[in-house]
Amino acid sequence: MSTAKKEYKRITVKSLTEMKVNKEKISMLTAYDYTMAKIIDSAGIDVILVGDSASNVMAGHETTLPITLDQMIYHASSVVRGTERALVVVDLPFGSYQSDPKEALRSAIRIMKESGGHTVKLEGGREVKESIKRILNAGIPVMGHLGLTPQSIYKFGTYTVRAKEEEEAEKLKEDALAMERWGCFAIVLEKVPAALAQEVAESLTIPVIGIGAGGGVDGQVLVSHDMFGMTYEFEPRFLRRYMNLYEDMGDAVTRYNADVKSRDFPNTSEQY
Ligand code: KIV
Repeated sequence: MSTAKKEYKRITVKSLTEMKVNKEKISMLTAYDYTMAKIIDSAGIDVILVGDSASNVMAGHETTLPITLDQMIYHASSVVRGTERALVVVDLPFGSYQSDPKEALRSAIRIMKESGGHTVKLEGGREVKESIKRILNAGIPVMGHLGLTPQSIYKFGTYTVRAKEEEEAEKLKEDALAMERWGCFAIVLEKVPAALAQEVAESLTIPVIGIGAGGGVDGQVLVSHDMFGMTYEFEPRFLRRYMNLYEDMGDAVTRYNADVKSRDFPNTSEQY
């Protein structure tokens, strides 16, 4: 396997296809604000996803359903200002694209115009075919999202692994092929069996980015707050935590609190 890495000044949707051809794995993380985007971008992550998971990790909602288009645009515009190299993908929130293709296009245009994001992502396959096509026709790149689609949580009832049964796996494979045919530039596969994800990735020329979908796909995405260990209640098998920021930040706050209470902070060199 080739490990040669081409240097990209700015990642585009074309770069991602090239990476797939060159067998270079694609790295993707979420960000919702300027500072986090700057850290993630400077560290060389290829794609920053302004995910509707902001609804959970930023706003504290139980699901991704409540976040609005205006709120997504606010998060996305902050991320765009913190990004120089990464491709910025912005989630179309629940309710902004399902009801009719014209509304889907209006929502996508608002994201592109008002946030400066580079592409949109939406959940679902053939159910949202007309919306995908309408957005693509306007020249806006679309990333698909299949498998566990959190905007449909009330239909599924749980966040468990999807497409374990033959019928659902077949539908997923057909949807993925159709999305490539319609012109989507990449697909996220969330929480599906690794063998199925690999089969889908191998059957497509567009990149497949996995979350809980094993190592046989073209790239990986995690929610940054989970990866940094800022969230601790959420412990799916697929999550690798690279830090324990919940504890580290808690310790820092405890020490600051103690220093203020004891009058240790500020000292004479920390004042004017
Ligand atoms: O909103 C999000 O963070 C996502 C990822 C889980 C892929 O869609």
